[in-house]
Amino acid sequence: MPNLLTVLLINSDSGSRAAITALLARCRRPVELSATTGALQEAMKHIESETPPQVVILEAHSIAQGVRDVSTIRAINPQTMIMVTSEEKHPDWILTLIRAGAGEYLTTPIILDELEDALERAAGMFERRVGAEDARGKVITVFNPSGGMGTTTIAVNLAATLVGKGELTALLDLNPFSSDISAFLDLNAAYTLSSIQGAEGRIDASFLTGIMTRHTSGIKVLCGAEEVGVTTGITPNQILNLLTLIRGQFGVTVIDTGGSLSERVLETFNGSDLILYPLTLTLPALNNARRYLKSLNYHGFGPERVKVLVNRYLPKDDIRLTDAEKILGVNIFHTIPNSYVEIKESIYKGTPLVTCFPRSPVTKALTDLAGHVMTELSSGSH
Ligand SMILES: Nc1ncnc2c1ncn2[C@@H]1O[C@H](COP(=O)(O)OP(=O)(O)O)[C@@H](O)[C@H]1O
Ligand SMILES: [Mg+2]
Repeated sequence: MPNLLTVLLINSDSGSRAAITALLARCRRPVELSATTGALQEAMKHIESETPPQVVILEAHSIAQGVRDVSTIRAINPQTMIMVTSEEKHPDWILTLIRAGAGEYLTTPIILDELEDALERAAGMFERRVGAEDARGKVITVFNPSGGMGTTTIAVNLAATLVGKGELTALLDLNPFSSDISAFLDLNAAYTLSSIQGAEGRIDASFLTGIMTRHTSGIKVLCGAEEVGVTTGITPNQILNLLTLIRGQFGVTVIDTGGSLSERVLETFNGSDLILYPLTLTLPALNNARRYLKSLNYHGFGPERVKVLVNRYLPKDDIRLTDAEKILGVNIFHTIPNSYVEIKESIYKGTPLVTCFPRSPVTKALTDLAGHVMTELSSGSH
């Protein structure tokens, strides 16, 4: 059921008021008409109230009155969506009123489809705003530019641990190279990230949850596209919308991504509270991480947001953790032991480690990582 919109109608003509009221009743979007008045003056107590209407449908019978009324409403309540109605089709009217702050201009007699579209746009705007205000959900991105470092292993098992702790958890496969999450969780997704492409205006919370696939553990997964390269056209703006919506829907979202620091990846980081950067203790991996951490720092993602994980950690390695910290100039946030057999078996079965090897040291390390991440996120700096 779409969210209810509260609407206030201002029109000096009783016949027009009745006609617009009848049209509103026929719209798909449920509307609560908080008042209908003949002039702005009579509507002021509603606009100034604690719960002002989200939409004001305002008649403009002259440009001057229209601009004056739009400006008055905007000054009191800048969040209100003002839809101006007028017989006048002249572009000057439209431009002037839109510039004054009207969100829509509907010529009368109003066509049902046009009113429906305008209401849907308004509803989309309010849903996005609510998503931003309700941004209580946390977003954790696991990123390694080249892959092969355990990015997907960590993202999947982190999500599985968090859902096991009772968090409402989403897992997004935004990896541009290899969409591995569906294989790691043995999912047969009906819809994937490719559904988002080209659907810009239509993406709302219910669309998003509709294209996600539920894993038996309870994780809701947005799988990567089957076909290679079909989602390269997803824009940074679409990523921003996606993350805003997802924050409003889930307690925690884990993202798997990689590749160079493209606009799209940077937008993903922008929308993330924490960025986990896994690597193995080899010189090439450390060198690459040093370069990337420097660049991330340049882009505004410093050590308070980017945390380095050492995966496949062997305490007897030639390269020690302290060497890695010296090379990278940051502390290692967490280590995950090398555990070839369990991880291979878990991927083969399409089951997270918490389910198939609940007592293994690698599972303990990943469970501890989830705890460490949540403590870090609740420490207040995110
Ligand atoms: N802690 C670990 N111990 C042993 N093998 C691991 C570990 N983490 C990942 N692997 C293995 O490394 C390979 C790459 O892991 P994956 O999660 O796919 O990395 P990425 O997503 O960075 O490419 C996989 O074959 C996986 O089995
Ligand atoms: Mg991967």
